[in-house]
Amino acid sequence: MKTELALHERTLSLHRFPKRNNETLQAWDAGDEYLINHVEELALEPNRHILILNDNFGALSCWFSQNHNVTVMSDSFISHQGCKANLTLNQCNPIKFATTFEAISSKVDLVLMQLPKSNRHLIWQLHQLRNALPQNVPIIGVNKAKEIHTSTLKLFEKHLGTTTTSLAWKKHRLVFSQADSIQLKEVSPVTSWEVEEHGFWLDNLPNVYSGESLDLGARFMLQHLPSNLGDKKVIDLGCGNGVLSVKLGQLNPDISLTCVDESFMSVESAKRNLEHNLEGEREIRCIANNCLDNFEAKSADLVVCNPPFHQQQAVTDHIAWQMFCDAKHVLDNAGQLLVIGNRHLGYDVKLSRLFGKSNVKQIASNNKFVILQATK
Ligand SMILES: C[S@@+](CC[C@H](N)C(=O)[O-])C[C@H]1O[C@@H](n2cnc3c(N)ncnc32)[C@H](O)[C@@H]1O
Repeated sequence: MKTELALHERTLSLHRFPKRNNETLQAWDAGDEYLINHVEELALEPNRHILILNDNFGALSCWFSQNHNVTVMSDSFISHQGCKANLTLNQCNPIKFATTFEAISSKVDLVLMQLPKSNRHLIWQLHQLRNALPQNVPIIGVNKAKEIHTSTLKLFEKHLGTTTTSLAWKKHRLVFSQADSIQLKEVSPVTSWEVEEHGFWLDNLPNVYSGESLDLGARFMLQHLPSNLGDKKVIDLGCGNGVLSVKLGQLNPDISLTCVDESFMSVESAKRNLEHNLEGEREIRCIANNCLDNFEAKSADLVVCNPPFHQQQAVTDHIAWQMFCDAKHVLDNAGQLLVIGNRHLGYDVKLSRLFGKSNVKQIASNNKFVILQATK
């Protein structure tokens, strides 16, 4: 697996975050290379203000920080950490960091954008760009050609302005746009819906996982959450909109709750949802983090987890494994990890390896999911 990006007689060393010895996934893609090649051909004056949206692990930030003032905006804590590590590794100039929920400065000369996976996040970002930028600022997006549909370009036209595309290169295409559409009414960043069977509402910021309807796994898990926890310390690992924590908090008025996610918008959504839906005084923390990095050992009694099976565009189970390992470390003796997963993912094998076969129990199952409990 390559870790050296060599272009235009320059080489960058780039790693994903967290850095793993047996990594099989590259820290940049052909889309990053296409953008770099295209912008190099523009021969920009130095010290331009370049806004980079959704840089995965810092390939674009590292490249353009050499001659320009770079701000990177991303909803991903992991991307922020990856960018920082790669900037340090390559001795790059400092850049500014922001989340995609922050306002966009109008002092921008060029926008480069890896298109986000979710259309809600894309619409939010296009809307933000439309509101912030004059129409003479070029906005150049990139994605795999097969992910750029006619509907994607229509979103650009509607929420941002005039849009054209490039030819495909290494299966990627560039999208050229500018902020000149008829200005629409405000796009609300929040989508709210009711979890009907359980009688509470959830607010979802644009990049929240399953932000337009309840995840099927979460729906099943809601029916099997414990109600006998007393004043235990509970962690919701990969909390998304905090749906599992809200239910746990309602069932257990005295627990303390810590919600952790690598998406800043998820953490903010979970915080709002816990505030809106839970009554009374209790300790609540909502934290953007990579799994349970830097959490104290033996500091929790229960970890609930509906693990992800993607890291950015890549399908992978290494995050689930990391979550299980971290949960074991952070659980007190006799503490429990409650996990939901699709049947075919084989989490029982992973948990048995980690906790011992006799300490892993199936709590419930249906034709699609299993809920497993591992006791430390
Ligand atoms: C399958 S979703 C579950 C969301 C919510 N708990 C539910 O049940 O609907 C997995 C969540 O894990 C988060 N996630 C992915 N990688 C992570 C990481 N390395 N550390 C923390 N959270 C992560 C994702 O952002 C996503 O919100």
